[in-house]
Amino acid sequence: MNIPKLNIAGLTAALPIIQGGMAVRISTSGLAAAVANEQGIGVIAGTGMTPDELKKEIRLARRLSDGIIGVNVLFAVSNFAELVKAAIAEKIDLVISGAGFSRDMFGWGRESHTPIVPVVSTDRLAILAEKMGAAAVVVEGKEAGGHLGTDQPMVDILPAVRRAVSIPVIAAGGIMDGYEIARAIRLGADGVQMGTRFAASLESNASDSFKQQYVAAGPGDVTLIHSPVGLPGQALRNGFVEMIEKAGFKDLTPCDQCLKRCNHVFCIMNALINACRGGQAEKALVFCGDQVHRVSEILPVREIISRLKQELALA
Ligand SMILES: Cc1cc2nc3c(=O)[nH]c(=O)nc-3n(C[C@H](O)[C@H](O)[C@H](O)COP(=O)(O)O)c2cc1C
Repeated sequence: MNIPKLNIAGLTAALPIIQGGMAVRISTSGLAAAVANEQGIGVIAGTGMTPDELKKEIRLARRLSDGIIGVNVLFAVSNFAELVKAAIAEKIDLVISGAGFSRDMFGWGRESHTPIVPVVSTDRLAILAEKMGAAAVVVEGKEAGGHLGTDQPMVDILPAVRRAVSIPVIAAGGIMDGYEIARAIRLGADGVQMGTRFAASLESNASDSFKQQYVAAGPGDVTLIHSPVGLPGQALRNGFVEMIEKAGFKDLTPCDQCLKRCNHVFCIMNALINACRGGQAEKALVFCGDQVHRVSEILPVREIISRLKQELALA
């Protein structure tokens, strides 16, 4: 297949690949810049950062690349508005909101001419997002890493979303090679978003131990957890997951109200930070997509993208 460009509200990426935002601090400036330098769209995950920290990461990414850089923020965090506004003040190229969206954020985008792209998992939400002013939508299926809004495979949702909206549609969940990118494009996607493959890249900010857990993972090692934000989350089964599943489990971590709404069963922010740093398996929540077992080595972004392009060309 000829590699199509991805156009989102006047931004043009020569490679139709968005590197998914991955919190906490897994996709920071180094990874986002590396993907942008290969003509894809690199995304810094703002969730878990302060607005100043996020601004610093954006400036760092700009020093490393003059490509397209976006910011992803989970709608569930208390400082969502501050983080999005900080990214807009730094003239970020686009903002992606994970696991929810609201009318006001499209207003901030309109005022600043910043494309706002929500992640959705149904055609109904895609239609609503388009009406409110979304520049594109990311359609995420059940294969994706992190919080999930559906139990349906991406390929089952994508055609309905494609029919329902006229803005660009980005497919996400379970895409690990160029053949799968081609398949999504043939099903009507304008581009794809990939997380798991890039979390295990050389430039990912995750610790080596986090990345090695991806390499070691087998097909049966992925599970769904009940996240305190009220959604399922896809992660590696480890000591932490087994502990939080036990009846009567009580988390004693002090709470700083980082989420708009939290069920307080465990502190997800702490668990994600511990995972990124390579902390003990009993304290770390290692988010990953359900195709993580196909990651067999940690490669530089340039090599990952070169292989994706070769496969896409053959598809
Ligand atoms: C470790 C990890 C952390 C993630 N964190 C976020 C996040 O903070 N916000 C978000 O919208 N999506 C998040 N995601 C989802 C990705 O952005 C992307 O949509 C997803 O990984 C695509 O599926 P794949 O992992 O099968 O490629 C995360 C995924 C992973 C693997």
